[in-house]
Amino acid sequence: MREIIPVSEITRFSTKSDEFNPYPWYEEKLLHEPISYHPETNTWNVFRYDDVKRVLSDHEYFSSVRTRTIIDVGTNTKEGHIAEKLNLGVDPPEHRKRRALLATAFTPRSLKLWEPRIRGIVDELIDEIPDKTSVDIVSSLTSPLPTIVMSELLGVPWEHRNLFKEWVDILFMPTSKQNVDQVNELKGKAAREYYSFLYPLVLDKRDHLQEDIISDLIRAEVDGERFTDDEIVRTTMFILAAGIETTSHLMANTFYSFLYDDDTIYSELRQDPGLIPNTVEEMLRYRFHISKMDRTVKQDNNLLGVELKKGDVVITWMSAANHDEAMFDDPFKLDIRRHNSKKHLTFGNGPHFCLGAPLARLEAAIMLEQFVQRFSKIEPVPGFQLEDHLQPSAAGQSLLSLPLVANYA
Ligand code: HEM
Repeated sequence: MREIIPVSEITRFSTKSDEFNPYPWYEEKLLHEPISYHPETNTWNVFRYDDVKRVLSDHEYFSSVRTRTIIDVGTNTKEGHIAEKLNLGVDPPEHRKRRALLATAFTPRSLKLWEPRIRGIVDELIDEIPDKTSVDIVSSLTSPLPTIVMSELLGVPWEHRNLFKEWVDILFMPTSKQNVDQVNELKGKAAREYYSFLYPLVLDKRDHLQEDIISDLIRAEVDGERFTDDEIVRTTMFILAAGIETTSHLMANTFYSFLYDDDTIYSELRQDPGLIPNTVEEMLRYRFHISKMDRTVKQDNNLLGVELKKGDVVITWMSAANHDEAMFDDPFKLDIRRHNSKKHLTFGNGPHFCLGAPLARLEAAIMLEQFVQRFSKIEPVPGFQLEDHLQPSAAGQSLLSLPLVANYA
């Protein structure tokens, strides 16, 4: 059983809103403690761009095989942990083969097929948004969109999407010392329910292959290896978890930024939708505010200027690295015209670079394109208190709801 490291003991934000806006903490760390040892959690914490990039990508020294980790997704039950053949928490060369098996479902060809499907889903969702009336953009758009997209792409009927979202929310629930047993019990139950729901669907698909991820996983073969039904079910659970919470966090935060970080961006995008792809990158850099990963030191080294010993855990704070002035000019400014926003490390770096990055980018860009076309402006709702709208998640604090008023064009 892997030990979960409680990150909140490192950050110690006093309010949810502080955690949602962690910029002063990053500034402080980047300036004064760019590499620091945290005794209570027995971890090394790394903040600067070059160091974070190095740790994420240098698998000779920093391994993805973990016994202690900050990743708190899934459970240790039979149904709730990833199939070994597909566990990507390993290093090259083994990792290359496992990733290749999964990558068959994420080819550019798949993206081309998916684009019109995503456009259709966005259209249906924004059709429901009323004119000049307060609407919660999280429950009406940014949360259902990735859930429906992922269930569509997996090839699971839409009507079950609420179940999917419930399971994913539970599997992603962060644990603390106080609630670990209780939350693990919930996670085990969600994993069992998910498993018994999906297993018959996979069996059925074997006889009716289609253009979807489950069918791709059934067809996939690398070096003579194929997946069993059990492996496919457990793998889809992790693809879902990886693809829903993250993308919905990105999209909800994007609306938050348009309302509260810089209220000129929305009209700029309406005038020039060509700015949308770079806006998505800048949002990933600036507003995916707590992106972090961990690695375990594989051999003693001094690569970062401190003595690291085999077995030490190093936490890489990608969102802090995204604000390192050595890489980004005026890093704490949100700038949708920034020339190098795409250099952000929010999707990681090196052999484990996010497999779903092209999909997340595509979803966010399509959502914005269609939204700015439909609505002439968006406005905040008076009296909004950020603190009341946040909930703890794997991404730190996520927006549980975000009311706004949108006007038809
Ligand atoms: C890996 C972030 C969306 C599937 C990763 C990693 C990061 C990340 C940081 C690297 C992990 C590491 O270095 O150990 C994100 C963010 C997303 C997103 C910020 C959205 C904004 C998605 C989506 C999918 C996905 C939509 C799939 C549908 C994966 C998979 C891996 C991964 C399978 C493992 C790759 C490997 O270890 O080789 N993601 N992700 N992600 N992501 Fe994403």
